[in-house]
Amino acid sequence: MKVIVCKDYEELCKKAADLIDNEVRANPETTLGLATGSSPVGMYKELARRCSEEGLDFSKVHSVNLDEYVGLPGTHDQSYRYFMDDNLFNHINIDKANTYVAKGIGDPETNLKEFNDVIDNSDVSIQVLGVGPDGHLAFNEPGDTLWDKAHMETLDQSTIEANARFFASIDDVPRTAFTMGMGQIMRARTLLMIMSNNKEEAAKQLLLGDKLDPHCPCTFMKMHRDAYVFLEKELADKIGYVG
Ligand code: GLP
Repeated sequence: MKVIVCKDYEELCKKAADLIDNEVRANPETTLGLATGSSPVGMYKELARRCSEEGLDFSKVHSVNLDEYVGLPGTHDQSYRYFMDDNLFNHINIDKANTYVAKGIGDPETNLKEFNDVIDNSDVSIQVLGVGPDGHLAFNEPGDTLWDKAHMETLDQSTIEANARFFASIDDVPRTAFTMGMGQIMRARTLLMIMSNNKEEAAKQLLLGDKLDPHCPCTFMKMHRDAYVFLEKELADKIGYVG
C-alpha cells in the first residue's frame, strides 16, 4: 500500500488527479470506478479543469459508481446519480450513456442484478474510494461478514448520522443502499483512496494497525497490490503516522 501524505487538500487533489489523468491519457477507453462523498470533490474539480484547459479527454471513458441509496430517483439532489452529474459528469466531456450508477428506484432485485452484471462486465482500472467514519467502503458496513458482490445494505446509525448533513432532516436519510461488494472493489486494478481529516479512527486502523478487520472494512486495502491512500499532513500528525 502506498501512502501519500500531502501538505494540504489542494496538493492531495492534484496528486490524486494525476493518477487518473495518466490512466485516461494512456488508455482513453478506460473504465473508472467512481465514488461520491465530499472527499473526492476537489479531485473531480481538478479533473474538470484539466478537461477544459489541458485537453484531458473523457469522451471514450466509461465509469461505474460504487453505490446508490435505495428509494431515491436519480433526479433527487441527494441521489448519487445526481451527485456525479453535478460534481463531475456535467463538467467533463464524458458521454453520460457510458456512466453507470445503480438505480435507486424500481424492483430491487432487478436493479441489483443489473448492477452486478455491469460490474462483472467491467474491467475497472482505477477505483476511487472515500471511507466512512466507521471504516466503511462504499456502503460495506462493518460486521462479522463482508460480501463479495453488489448487495443491499442496511445503513449503520453512525452512517445515517454522518450523511444526515446533506439532507433536510435525519429522517430523510434512506435506511438502505445498494453497494458494490468488497470483492468487486478489490478486483479493480488500482485503488485510489482519499481519506479526509475527520477519519481518525479508520486512519489509525488502516495506517497504524496490522489487522484485516471486517469491523473496519477499509483495512482490506492492505491486501491490494496497487493501492494508494492519500491523506493530508494534518491527519497524519493527528494519528502519529510517520511513514
Ligand atoms: C458515504 C459513501 C461512501 C463515502 C463516505 C464518506 O457513506 N457511501 O462511499 O466514502 O460517504 O464520505 P465523505 O467523503 O463525505 O466523508
